Amino acid sequence: MCGIVGYIGNKEAYPILINGLKRLEYRGYDSAGIAIYNGETAIYKCKGKVSDLEHYTSKKSLVGFVGMGHTRWATHGEPNDINAHPHQSMYGKFILIHNGIIENYSQLKKILEEKGYRFKGETDSEVLVNFIEYIYLQGKTTAEIAVRAALSKVIGAYGLVIMCSDEPEQLIAARKGSPLVIGVGDGEYFIASDATPIVEHTKSVIFLNDDDVAIIRKDELTLKTVKNDKIIQPTIHQLDLDVDEIEKNGFDHFMLKEIFEQPRAIHDTFRGRISLEKKEIHLGGLYNVLPRLVEAKRIIIVGCGTSWHAGLVGEYLFEELARIPVEVEYGSEFRYRNPVIYEDDIVIAISQSGETADTLAAIQLAKQKGALVLGICNVVGSSIPRETHAGVYTHAGPEIGVASTKAFTSQVTVLAMMAILLGKKRNVLSNERYEQLLTALANIPDKIEKILQNSEKVKHIASIYQNATNCLYLGRGYLYPVALEGALKLKEISYIHAEGYPAAEMKHGPIALIDENMPVVFIATQDKTYEKIISNIQEVRARKGTIIAVVSEGDTKIKEMAHHTFEIPHTEEELIPLLAVIPLQLLSYYIAVMRGCNVDQPRNLAKSVTVE
Ligand code: G6P
Repeated sequence: MCGIVGYIGNKEAYPILINGLKRLEYRGYDSAGIAIYNGETAIYKCKGKVSDLEHYTSKKSLVGFVGMGHTRWATHGEPNDINAHPHQSMYGKFILIHNGIIENYSQLKKILEEKGYRFKGETDSEVLVNFIEYIYLQGKTTAEIAVRAALSKVIGAYGLVIMCSDEPEQLIAARKGSPLVIGVGDGEYFIASDATPIVEHTKSVIFLNDDDVAIIRKDELTLKTVKNDKIIQPTIHQLDLDVDEIEKNGFDHFMLKEIFEQPRAIHDTFRGRISLEKKEIHLGGLYNVLPRLVEAKRIIIVGCGTSWHAGLVGEYLFEELARIPVEVEYGSEFRYRNPVIYEDDIVIAISQSGETADTLAAIQLAKQKGALVLGICNVVGSSIPRETHAGVYTHAGPEIGVASTKAFTSQVTVLAMMAILLGKKRNVLSNERYEQLLTALANIPDKIEKILQNSEKVKHIASIYQNATNCLYLGRGYLYPVALEGALKLKEISYIHAEGYPAAEMKHGPIALIDENMPVVFIATQDKTYEKIISNIQEVRARKGTIIAVVSEGDTKIKEMAHHTFEIPHTEEELIPLLAVIPLQLLSYYIAVMRGCNVDQPRNLAKSVTVE
């Protein structure tokens, strides 16, 4: 949600900033802007993508060694040139780029208007930059003091970078609730809202904590907090990330690359954690809390979007394999509905980015109520792993496509490992069943590989349905969350209205929609509800609906009823979501491409939603 990049050092800032913005564009892409200091500060910003900004700046001379850039996902104010960042204060003293929301911006705006400030656009960020300037001019103080004083009055979330015209060889960065990473180079620093623009320059990074303020000159970084003037010693981490992981590597889109990366991503998720030889599951991040987990009376899973769907699969897994009652909650609902949370509850927060604001707020609430809070996250060093008591990283590698794919399967892999482990420790699973599940999990990457080899078949089905306007996805048991995820993928990237339902619920409403124009995707592998779902397929057929079915290899019954089928290999029922979701991801991808949609940057969406 908005990308931030900053540079200060001995190199030309422009190429670093513009390339950084391209890397960050998956976070937001409705407008972009750049500010570079060279005697005075030039600001260029426009509605549209980073490529539009690049085009706009192509004939300008943008030299200078200090600067910052921003790519926006609008919250306050429509996406246009004026609301794009950077924002400059009225008297020109400060320039700011901001990610997050200033909740008390209207009060601050009123104060400023009474003092004669006038505003060009509608953003909360423009209010903030003027508020900083107002304090600065009032107190005849330094930029750092003014920034810290202003931020102490701000309610809301921010990740921001500020330049001051009186102290031009300096950038000030601050964080509260919206991530910022600082790359430490040789006589240079990089600032970004995540590590992707930094990794090609340096692997040494500092993750800012909430309330941190960094005052950065090319050869010096001073870290303080908003309220405390005392200098803090920063901790430098080494990034475990390579540049080729954040490039398309020959694929047309990041989403396609990430779909095809799933065998490796899942393998990386369980590598070193399951041993078929020793018949062991070892989740190092949970080691200290395992006794509490084994005794758990209840698990509450929180997440948003695709991560919430993974949580639903988790519910089936924990209840079936470990006999622990589970509730799955949207982070946004959980935080506001005064949930009953007991001290012996285990709360598991699932998030690819580790930054989703609603999930973070749910974690904070669960912690206040005394629950043990665990995280399942992909981005190392992000906020959720730092806010939770313990957790497991998915190790899927960077996910850049806005529509989540490999994050889902790697989250389900972690949930499966946890459920199998707990099932064993709680004596729910026999040794034989435990070993069967372990072996099946280890074989999943090869089976996904096999599905991917058949992607042309999905492409053919996509070509037939590319012009659909609605689509229904139906599944039962473990495949109900997969139906939800399939529908989400289609609507996110192709803008076709799609809904997922438990197949048996169809008769309580969605059946009214079915006619010859309604494609229905059944996820109907041979599990214990197979015969039941066949009845549901017949109900659709009887109403002339078109049936596309994901079936088990060798299926004959559904093949006779469906207009199109796609076979997936057999595995244990509990793990089938890991296979069944793959053709659905491919179907959405190909349909979106055929409809000419921007697959990696679907309209109105953002990869990491750091506002509530
Ligand atoms: C956004 C993304 C989704 C993602 C959701 C939760 O809406 O577009 O793809 O599933 O946020 O994100 P998280 O990083 O918490 O998994």
